[in-house]
Amino acid sequence: MKEKIKKLLSEVENFKAGSKEELEDFRIEMLGSKGKIKDLFSDFRTVPNENKKEVGQLINTLKVKAQDKFDAFKESLAGNDTSVKDDLDLSRTGTPVKLGSRHPISIVRTEIIDIFSRIGFTVSEGPEIEDDWHNFSALNFPLEHPARDMQDTFFVESDGEEEIALRTHTSSVQVRMMENTKPPIRTLSPGRVYRNEAISARAHCFFHQVEGLYIAENVSFADLKQTLMYFAKEMFGEETKIRLRPSYFPFTEPSAEMDVSCSVCNSKGCNVCKYTGYLEIMGCGMVDPNVLENCGIDSKKYSGFAFGMGVERIAMLKYKVNDLRLYSEGDVRFLEQFKSAF
Ligand code: PHE
Repeated sequence: MKEKIKKLLSEVENFKAGSKEELEDFRIEMLGSKGKIKDLFSDFRTVPNENKKEVGQLINTLKVKAQDKFDAFKESLAGNDTSVKDDLDLSRTGTPVKLGSRHPISIVRTEIIDIFSRIGFTVSEGPEIEDDWHNFSALNFPLEHPARDMQDTFFVESDGEEEIALRTHTSSVQVRMMENTKPPIRTLSPGRVYRNEAISARAHCFFHQVEGLYIAENVSFADLKQTLMYFAKEMFGEETKIRLRPSYFPFTEPSAEMDVSCSVCNSKGCNVCKYTGYLEIMGCGMVDPNVLENCGIDSKKYSGFAFGMGVERIAMLKYKVNDLRLYSEGDVRFLEQFKSAF
């Protein structure tokens, strides 16, 4: 009997199932209700008492080994279905998945917002189709005033008395903010704006702005200058110098144009800065008291500053892009060059 069990043990140990059918035959032969192990248990009755312990252990070992063998092959054959086998080639090289990249305008816009959010500016948005009040009148552009020609406007046909236009700047969002919020106000309005200009390397009929507004008690021009200096250094590097030149906007008084030192030539003069050493990047100024009053803010109590910049212009300087049209042509060869931390 012991010999018989040992023979079966080596049979079990050497067994290899090449298919599910072979494994099933093995199960029936060894573990089945009429199988060899079952037979051994029947024969066990005839074993003399003094040998029962030893033989019983041997049969049990055989049973456990046969079951383990069966379980192991069952598992390995389960994933081995011939129909699946043909499709699945684990040795094949993977198909590369091409990741898209952020649009440069989106990268720069996010960077500007990030810089100002660190000093407490929130983000506000408004409609791209705007009424005359929010785009012009509230901002101190009287009707028929030539300043309206500063920004060539796309008008939208309307039945009402008020003119409707595609917004020419996001100052319109700042008007909405001033009308709806009590000072202190510290907000950025990023967004797309439209101007009726011939499309060229330097101008487009739409572009993106980020404008900023700060209104509180005792805000001075020094606050404006310090805020913009902080921005310029964060955006273009610690060495950057700024320059404010007097300018004119109907909604700010005094108004200025801000230049930053040219990082391409370190202000020595090159064709990017047209040999001036400086590049113009934004308009700014102290909010005209008329504008505050138009928006329901007490101009005796509050003062504020505003600034506005073109995102395309900043991105052109940052990435040395020389044609504005590239931003909106959707050419992947251009777009995939921009990697962002945002
Ligand atoms: N709104 C102005 C423009 O689009 C920019 C600006 C904003 C200037 C705020 C001064 C203050 O040209």
